[in-house]
Amino acid sequence: MKLVLDVDTGTDDAVAIMMAALHPDLNLVACTVVNGNANVDYCTDNTLRVLSCINRSHIPVYSGAYRPLARNDFPTPRDPNKPKALHGTTLPLPPTDTQAKTQHAAQFLVDYFKQPNHDTTLVAVGPLTNIALACTLDRDFAKNVERLIIMGGGHAIANTTASAEFNFWADPEAAAIVMSAGFSNIQLVTLDATHQALVTYDDCKQLVEQGSPASLAAELFIRQRIDVHEQFEKMDIEGSAPVHDALCIGALINPKLIKTQHLHVSVETGNAQSVGQSIIDVHKRSNQEANCYVALGADRLGFIRLLLDTLALT
Ligand code: RIB
Ligand code: CA
Repeated sequence: MKLVLDVDTGTDDAVAIMMAALHPDLNLVACTVVNGNANVDYCTDNTLRVLSCINRSHIPVYSGAYRPLARNDFPTPRDPNKPKALHGTTLPLPPTDTQAKTQHAAQFLVDYFKQPNHDTTLVAVGPLTNIALACTLDRDFAKNVERLIIMGGGHAIANTTASAEFNFWADPEAAAIVMSAGFSNIQLVTLDATHQALVTYDDCKQLVEQGSPASLAAELFIRQRIDVHEQFEKMDIEGSAPVHDALCIGALINPKLIKTQHLHVSVETGNAQSVGQSIIDVHKRSNQEANCYVALGADRLGFIRLLLDTLALT
């Protein structure tokens, strides 16, 4: 399965990139990068460092939007209550002399998915600015992308404001454009699913024992995430954290890892209190046609097995 992965690398994006680059069933064609967890220059450098760390520098990286479409609080509007420590700016990986391509990520997306028979899935695990820009550049983009997997939104769970998940909150206008652009097959992996696929300190110990470059790098990132969650946002399992973006890749490899429902999802862009909230019509009261397959649950043990087995590869 070929995929293009749009990232705002960040600690969980880094684990997703390594799974996508290493798993034998996947062919990571390219990474596109967007402003999100950090400004786009840091996210681009982090993406290059991750690929270099696992000896996959041949995979091209395209840098994209440096700001959200409409909000003016950028780079990356941070939730004042969530410390930068979850991601930081530069990941703890050696620098690389690999360079990003010169073409803008949004233009690469348009050109790549215009190719007939590309047979490629687009996976978006950051704010949706690049995807929305591609929809705006090319009226056929949504039609050309036959399958789109998004990490974003939440029904019973938020993580940035009282009502919003970070990727949708960081660029709500982009999320609203993408959710209504007419993609025929969107799979939305929400916080409700990622919070059921928690990774623990014990899993980190197994990663260290595995000892591969990807396992050791992922252990650093995941342990950092658990440390922050233990201090600021304890999860249901003691000593654990969600690794949101990695679950998207897990679900691409094994769709049985998540449970989905065909529902209508929209994104709030107007109300200051709830901007970025995903409105997931679980009881189908809106009389609006379902526009995506929403994952609200996940198989934690199956995900952990796949995560460990994939990161053990070199
Ligand atoms: O809310 C989780 C999402 O926001 C993840 O993609 C994480 O990397 C951040 O971008
Ligand atoms: Ca991300």
